[in-house]
Amino acid sequence: MRALLATLAAAAGILLAAPAVAQAPMLGEAETRRVLAHGPWPPAPPHDPSNRVSGQPAAIALGERLFFDRRLSGDGAMACDWCHDPARDWSDGFARGVGKATLDRNTPALWNVGLQRWFGWGGGHDSLWSQSLRPLLEPREMGGSAAQVAARVRGDADLACRYRQVFGQAPSSMDDTGLLIATGKALAAFQETLVSGRTPFDDFRDALARGDAAAMARYPQDALRGLRIFIGKGSCSTCHVGPLFTNGEFADIGVPFFLARGGVDSGRHEGIRQVRGSAFNLLGPYNDDPGGATRLRTRHVELQHRNFGEFKVPSLRNVARTAPYMHNGALADLRDVVRHYSELNEDRLHADGERILKPLRLDAGETDDLIAFLSTLSDTTPPFRRRVADTCP
Ligand code: HEC
Ligand code: HEC
Repeated sequence: MRALLATLAAAAGILLAAPAVAQAPMLGEAETRRVLAHGPWPPAPPHDPSNRVSGQPAAIALGERLFFDRRLSGDGAMACDWCHDPARDWSDGFARGVGKATLDRNTPALWNVGLQRWFGWGGGHDSLWSQSLRPLLEPREMGGSAAQVAARVRGDADLACRYRQVFGQAPSSMDDTGLLIATGKALAAFQETLVSGRTPFDDFRDALARGDAAAMARYPQDALRGLRIFIGKGSCSTCHVGPLFTNGEFADIGVPFFLARGGVDSGRHEGIRQVRGSAFNLLGPYNDDPGGATRLRTRHVELQHRNFGEFKVPSLRNVARTAPYMHNGALADLRDVVRHYSELNEDRLHADGERILKPLRLDAGETDDLIAFLSTLSDTTPPFRRRVADTCP
């Protein structure tokens, strides 16, 4: 009887494993579902209800002007692009950002930043506009102040003209804090436009969705094997999931969190304190969506011990171009990242709940395959060109 059941089960297994017409030859039903969950791309353009100028062309143009304007920094020497360089995928290529001093964290690429839920490696900000104020004021970054940003804007006829167009008010009639917030919201409107383009993975994913075997066959075989590790035995897509390749949450993957200058970076733990304590959070008076859903996520965030040493799960779009990796830039290239997951030191995992991670012990071929897959997440968008003239139209 037992033997018969086993035979039946085995036969059923074969039937289940047989590829359906709409599937790539190598992918089973569950795998297909998991792959499809990483698209479609691009998504609807980001829109932020907490920012009343989100998506407005004049605000986007003003934001672009401000992003490259060195006069917003304390000594007039540094703009956002000092660290978020468009020629380097809106990052800097350094392990850790370098402003007035070397920072503790890696400069994130700004691709798709408008689609995120929390900002900064520890999620210390709950909106793109409040995150954009931080470098202006932070002494180790641009080292300015609200008064100084306001003075620069009021003193420049072109900027003043643009603020009037976007906010319907002359900078001379706005107070310093109001002008600072407006600056953050214009900067955010510009950054929302930094959406990455389609990738070889997206072409494969869409071909899979419509059962187009010929188009699927154009996806490199090594990348396809790497994709199966990513959604299968690697469990990577437990966290790096959805069209952005992140669940938008925080996790501990055992990257050491000691700071070069002493002390520790507690990641999400500090991030929650910061976001709850900020005068510019979504619970405060500068949210343009009062009573709306944007307040809920900040209201419900609670500090827990497990948050210590957790960092934001980064998106993997364009990841092959944005080395070095991790919140502290400790890993130089994708091979080091894959080695990290492959040889994972479980004793280092300090938060609970990260039981998904086990050392993968990948062999050399599997390592190459996973890197090949990650490399198919890069787009071929032409280099960014500034679109906005310095003079107000
Ligand atoms: C001195 C280098 C430096 C400068 C200048 C700088 N940034 Fe950053 N930026 C960083 C670093 C480092 C982080 C990560 C901070 C953290 O995790 O706390 C960051 C994070 C961000 C993020 C969050 C990204 C994410 O994925 O969560 C945004 C948005 C951002 N910066 C926008 C700006 C804007 C706008 C300006 C100009 C007003 C600016 N930055 C200037 C280094 C810099
Ligand atoms: C438990 C959730 C989780 C799982 C599972 C996971 N990751 Fe991550 N991943 C993260 C977090 C969190 C970070 C950032 C950690 C830090 O900065 O300290 C990260 C960082 C990365 C980075 C660096 C990105 C950057 O911009 O710095 C890559 C690449 C990456 N993961 C790929 C993978 C691959 C491949 C797998 C499967 C082998 C995987 N991840 C499994 C959560 C996860």
